[in-house]
Amino acid sequence: MKLLFKNIKELLQVRDNGVTKLSGAEMKELPSLKNAWLLTENGKIADFGKMEDFPQINADETINASGKILMPGWIDSHTHIVYAGNREQEFVDRINGLTYEEIANKGGGIPNSAEKLQQTSEEDLYNQSEKRLQEVMKMGTTAIEIKSGYGLTTQAELKMLRVIKKLRENYDLPVKSTFLGAHALPKEYKDNKEGYLNLIIDEMLPKVAEENLAEYVDIFCEKGYFTVEDTNRLLSAAKKYNLIPKIHVNQFNSIGGIKAGVEHEALSVDHLEVMNPEDIEQLKGSGTMPVALPSCSLFLGIPYTPARDILDAGLPLALATDYNPGSTPNGNMNLVVSLACIKMKMTPEEAINAATINAAYAIGLSETHGSITKGKAANLILTEEIPSFGFLPYSFGANHIDSVFINGKKI
Ligand code: NIG
Ligand code: FE
Repeated sequence: MKLLFKNIKELLQVRDNGVTKLSGAEMKELPSLKNAWLLTENGKIADFGKMEDFPQINADETINASGKILMPGWIDSHTHIVYAGNREQEFVDRINGLTYEEIANKGGGIPNSAEKLQQTSEEDLYNQSEKRLQEVMKMGTTAIEIKSGYGLTTQAELKMLRVIKKLRENYDLPVKSTFLGAHALPKEYKDNKEGYLNLIIDEMLPKVAEENLAEYVDIFCEKGYFTVEDTNRLLSAAKKYNLIPKIHVNQFNSIGGIKAGVEHEALSVDHLEVMNPEDIEQLKGSGTMPVALPSCSLFLGIPYTPARDILDAGLPLALATDYNPGSTPNGNMNLVVSLACIKMKMTPEEAINAATINAAYAIGLSETHGSITKGKAANLILTEEIPSFGFLPYSFGANHIDSVFINGKKI
């Protein structure tokens, strides 16, 4: 199947093969071709160029993209879209003045979602989650990571991971799976963190590995959740099963989680709303991608990740949604890119790089996704007719997407 786009106003994020992540300095540029064509063949980007050099190709289908921008689809490297029900009540509690921490202390928060999920059948959980996946695909997400962590029992964690696996099997976009058993203490282990960590390490990890249910391991390294010591213990244990760390750190406090992540060669460290200069130093020279989640900051009213400090230190940065029922009930990458510009002072070029090629790196996909490169997957966004790519983040809250393609097929 050959699909041809002609008269593309601008073909965005055109990169040579081998570019797998961009540093702060490199993120300033967003290479493009104006008045271009692009051919997909068997789900891959086969060729592209300027219209003035168009070699008269015959395709099965031709799309006239005049006035429109064609770009790689968004990559959402951090989500929790497999969950049951919602936490609307906590939303109202927060409006009435309670903090995220206070809500968690009075029995809300992650264990609240866990209780709901434990009582939900695998089939129902799949149906609820599938709706969210379809929703975000329409908004341009063409590769996604999904975490467990709302189960908090062996059975319920495995149920979540099986739902993620089923989504991967039933959909064409890449779906990466992360085991986040260490998301919070379940109510039964409220005063027995050791016991819960033992359960994760001795029972959950071996089962997750045996069924091959996850590629990554995550932990919420934060005051009131898991310490740096817990993080070191879990990540060391997970290494034996070849699970690569991608961890929640520095959301509310800087307690040394970034250093631990870098030492364990984490693929990414995510959240980073609270960063001190030592945290930034730790990341220099590492292969660990910092990931910011600005819609979580918007929803909870907490600080935004200090992107300028990170980028101006020469570090790369990726953006993701964190779509989850507690801190970010929204999976719109277009909004994330806007917020990065408006609230984190990233330029449109930097934000788009962070949501495509660097995001691909954060889930091990940058060899195959995240840029317009011959041989990469034809996972694409075709915009509506817009004046320029900067118009995307500028018109915040709107998506301006005409159509989305996964492996060269319109969804
Ligand atoms: O990434 N911070 C930890 N986990 C989620 C929120 C979980 C929840 O409140 O349900 C996050 O923000
Ligand atoms: Fe998260």
